[in-house]
Amino acid sequence: MTKKNTFLGIETSCDETAAAVIRENDKGTADVLSNIVSSQISEHKKFGGVVPELAARAHLENIDYIIKAALEESKVSLNEIDGVAATAGPGLIVCLTVGLNIAKSIAAFSNKPFVAVNHLEGHALSPGLENNIEFPYLLLLISGGHSQFLIVKDVNEYEQLGTTIDDALGEAFDKTAKMLDLGYPGGPSVEKASELGDKNFFKLPEPIINKAGCNLSFAGLKTAVLRESKKINGNKKLKFDLAASFQNTINKILFKKTKIAIEMFKKNINSSNVNLVVAGGVAANISIRENLKKLSKEIGFKVIYPNLKFCGDNAAMIAWAGIKRFKKKLLNEIDVNARSRWPLDENAPYMKGPGLKL
Ligand SMILES: Nc1ncnc2c1ncn2[C@@H]1O[C@H](COP(=O)(O)OP(=O)(O)OP(=O)(O)O)[C@@H](O)[C@H]1O
Ligand SMILES: [Mg+2]
Repeated sequence: MTKKNTFLGIETSCDETAAAVIRENDKGTADVLSNIVSSQISEHKKFGGVVPELAARAHLENIDYIIKAALEESKVSLNEIDGVAATAGPGLIVCLTVGLNIAKSIAAFSNKPFVAVNHLEGHALSPGLENNIEFPYLLLLISGGHSQFLIVKDVNEYEQLGTTIDDALGEAFDKTAKMLDLGYPGGPSVEKASELGDKNFFKLPEPIINKAGCNLSFAGLKTAVLRESKKINGNKKLKFDLAASFQNTINKILFKKTKIAIEMFKKNINSSNVNLVVAGGVAANISIRENLKKLSKEIGFKVIYPNLKFCGDNAAMIAWAGIKRFKKKLLNEIDVNARSRWPLDENAPYMKGPGLKL
């Protein structure tokens, strides 16, 4: 029997302070022995978004307690742990450094291997915590800072097929919530408001829908929501109609662009056997899940979602990516630095800013 690795994972890239202990199991997935997430929603609510300095201070205040709680709940001592993994990027440097530094110290004083994890690889591999998925698979990563289609060829091997050329999808949800005064965090509040509205009431733009392959764009949609929101004068019904129309437009965009990405993926891997993994905070949205399920039935592929608790930021996915990298001997020295920008496919073209040709 091969040894089952146990890892401590730490995540502080944005506004969640998180620590988890996970162990590989016989099914090729993970036993999550603890998964503690402390959200800073109350701290950032009054500002309608994450304030970096406040987030960093809250991480500093909470991190010791969260790690201690994760170890206690797991009933695993530091001695029994095979390695420590922490998010090293991308994200806010002031936040990343809090988790990264404490993880490096723990690894150093307990003489354990250390893995610096790309937060996006955490999201990319997160469905593996509960599903045994074979490489390669197609990933739709939709989160607060990213919206991308990628081929996940293996651990540490990614090829980007498409990305947003402006806003991330989570950002579009958060800004729509702010414009409609629906509360923070934005995604869940827009989803809730959408249930009360008529999704066909407003006709909103679907930017670059007929060009640029599976690249995405949400800025024009956001501007249209802003324009309409100014006209509705706080009318509750229209507010819900606008939220529902926004979400419906997102679904139409994702339906079409995912269809294109599936075709690109099939060509690339030379097979019609497709697994689509949808990960990141926005993957928690039920209407998006149902929409892509509908597409999967229509054109024949398998769609896999992480459990809701592993969609938003958490440390279980960081510990899992840590184990996967450890097994490939992708370890780090403890002088590794935090990185604010860290694409999964380092060779992918940068798709933002003036002069961009589509
Ligand atoms: N039910 C939902 N519907 C739509 N969006 C949602 C939902 N739940 C969460 N989100 C969005 O998910 C985002 C948070 O996801 P996540 O925590 O993965 O992002 P992040 O870590 O800030 O960014 P990244 O992972 O790109 O660095 C927020 O923008 C939030 O509004
Ligand atoms: Mg995230």
